[in-house]
Amino acid sequence: MSAPTALITGGTSGIGKATAELLHSRGHRVMVTGLTGLTGLTGLAGAGLPEDVVAVRADARSLPDLDQAMEQVRRRLGSLDLLFLNAGVSRPGPIESTDETAFDALFDVNVKGAFFTLQKALPLLNEGASVVFTVGAGEGLGAAMTAAKGALPPLMRSLALELAPRRIRVNAVSPGLIDTPAYGRLGVSPEMIDAWARDVPLGRAGAPADIAEAVAFLASPAAGYITGEDLVVSGGVGVHARP
Ligand SMILES: NC(=O)c1ccc[n+]([C@@H]2O[C@H](COP(=O)([O-])OP(=O)(O)OC[C@H]3O[C@@H](n4cnc5c(N)ncnc54)[C@H](OP(=O)(O)O)[C@@H]3O)[C@@H](O)[C@H]2O)c1
Repeated sequence: MSAPTALITGGTSGIGKATAELLHSRGHRVMVTGLTGLTGLTGLAGAGLPEDVVAVRADARSLPDLDQAMEQVRRRLGSLDLLFLNAGVSRPGPIESTDETAFDALFDVNVKGAFFTLQKALPLLNEGASVVFTVGAGEGLGAAMTAAKGALPPLMRSLALELAPRRIRVNAVSPGLIDTPAYGRLGVSPEMIDAWARDVPLGRAGAPADIAEAVAFLASPAAGYITGEDLVVSGGVGVHARP
C-alpha cells in the first residue's frame, strides 16, 4: 500500500508544524504551506521541518497562490488523503480597537482562505479522504476573532454533508490554550501563558503535539465513521458550560 498523503496549511509554525512532524514520523508524505516562515517559493524544507517535507509559499487569501499550491501538490503527491485547513491569524481585541485591516485579516485568512483552499483541493482529494478544520476561539479573544472562527463549524458541517457521497469526511479540531509562537507574536509572555494555564482544569497549556494527535486520529481509519464533528482539545476548558 502506498504512503498516505497530507497537505497542511499553515504548516511552518505551531500546530501545523507539529502535525507535519507527527504525520511524517508515521510515514505520511507531507506538504505544508506557509507565508512569512518561508524564504523561497517551493521545495524548501520550511522552518526546520524534515527535508522531504515540501513547503510551498502560498498566501491563504490569494486564489492564484492556492492554484499554484495545488499544482505543486498534484505534481509531488499526486492526490490527497488529508487536507488540514489550519492556516490562521489571531487579532484579539475589543470592538473599539479592531480596525478594518484586522477584521479583514481575520475573515480573509481564517474563513475565505479555508473555504477556497478546500474548493481548489477538491479534484485532488481521494475517495475516503479526510478534511480537518482548525477552529477554537474563546469569546475572551474579542468579537471579530470569535465571529471569524465561529463561521467555521457550520461551514464544516455543511461540507461534511456535501462531500459525504465521495466518502470524504470533514471534521474540526478546536484547540484550547496551546503554547505556540502565535502568542509571542502577539506580545504574550511565557509568564502570561503560565498564568492562564492555571485556569485550565488539567493544569497546563496544551502543546502543539496534543492537537497533532487529534488531527492524526481524525485522519485515520479509526475515525472512519466520524464526520461533521468538532473535537475539542482544551484540557477541560469550557466543560462546565456544556449541558
Ligand atoms: N495556539 C492556540 O492557542 C490556538 C487556539 C485556538 C485556535 N488556534 C488556531 O490554530 C491555528 C494554528 O495556530 P498556531 O497557534 O499554531 O499559530 P502559528 O504558530 O502562528 O501558526 C500559524 C500558521 O498559519 C500560517 N499563516 C498565517 N497567515 C497565513 C496566510 N495568509 N497564508 C498562509 N499561511 C498563513 C503561518 O505561516 P507563516 O508563519 O509561514 O507566515 C503559520 O504556519 C490557527 O488557525 C489558530 O487560529 C490556535
